Amino acid sequence: MSLRDKPTGVKAPDMSVNQQQEIIDGLTRENASISPKYFYDTRGSELFEAITRVPEYYPTRTELAVMQTHSRAIAQSVGPGTTLIEFGAGNCAKARALCRLIDPVRFVGIDISADYLQDAIKSMRSEFPGIELRAVAADLSHGFELPADIPRAKRLVFYPGSSIGNFDPEHARELLERMRSLIDGDGALLIGIDLPKDVAALEAAYDDAAGVTAAFNLNVLAHVNLLIGSNFISCQWLHRSFFNASESRIEMHLEAVTDVLVCWPGGERSFAAGERIHTENSYKYPLDKFITLLSLAGFAKTQTWTDEHHWFAVIRACA
Ligand SMILES: C[S@@+](CC[C@H](N)C(=O)[O-])C[C@H]1O[C@@H](n2cnc3c(N)ncnc32)[C@H](O)[C@@H]1O
Repeated sequence: MSLRDKPTGVKAPDMSVNQQQEIIDGLTRENASISPKYFYDTRGSELFEAITRVPEYYPTRTELAVMQTHSRAIAQSVGPGTTLIEFGAGNCAKARALCRLIDPVRFVGIDISADYLQDAIKSMRSEFPGIELRAVAADLSHGFELPADIPRAKRLVFYPGSSIGNFDPEHARELLERMRSLIDGDGALLIGIDLPKDVAALEAAYDDAAGVTAAFNLNVLAHVNLLIGSNFISCQWLHRSFFNASESRIEMHLEAVTDVLVCWPGGERSFAAGERIHTENSYKYPLDKFITLLSLAGFAKTQTWTDEHHWFAVIRACA
């Protein structure tokens, strides 16, 4: 592995200590929770990729179709010489699509799932020999620094997949402000937003018939076992998801099938049958509310592309 292949922004040991404490704090709260970022060990990243292929999961194909339909306008709005920086790049499938459109000088993928990202970036090398490709392992939910040698000029921060919906509005605004701080006057943000829609379509997307989303949700327990040394047994838990209309968000939970005692070195938590662990929120913002959020974060100008059903929007935002 060359130095260029090595992900930077490394998973330092103290980051794992912070992660352990964060997980234990979540598990021992009255209403237990696990942050959705812990879905993404390598298995979780593979399962997410499988979710993007199930028929019920419309966001990935709808967002890619919006990018394809409006490719010329998107390319014109970006222009040449760009440094493309994707937050939560995953398998880099959307970065590949965007690189074909805008031909950036460099692509920097950032993700918490470091090995998976690394493999995705490696597999881009043959298709994009002229683009400098970099992998950065980092946790977006905490402040992180981009490597100092990434030029500030002409940055396009790319945050697709409506991943911003995993943050509550206050934290979403903070993350958007952090993105804004990475961009100068010649840069922009390109962000994908899942819009409110028919509840049946929303709920099906997070509970597919093949059970891939259920497997993805349950996999977080194996990852948590690895990170804190706990003894979760996945068959004691059920995948639950539903649309919470008053918060305009899909919620995912894991529900104890029976009374369960979960132990880890130095602690334990008992769950009564039916008790839940909250594992994900996915906020669905009406377009005008999201544009207000962008302006509060310092993005005054926006340009929006959407699909014919207005299910998903891709927004270019700049100061
Ligand atoms: C829903 S997937 C989206 C992947 C891809 N961008 C797409 O649109 O298909 C979310 C991605 O963000 C990454 N991720 C989630 N939480 C993160 C965090 N706190 N810090 C860094 N990456 C994170 C996951 O590993 C995963 O690759």
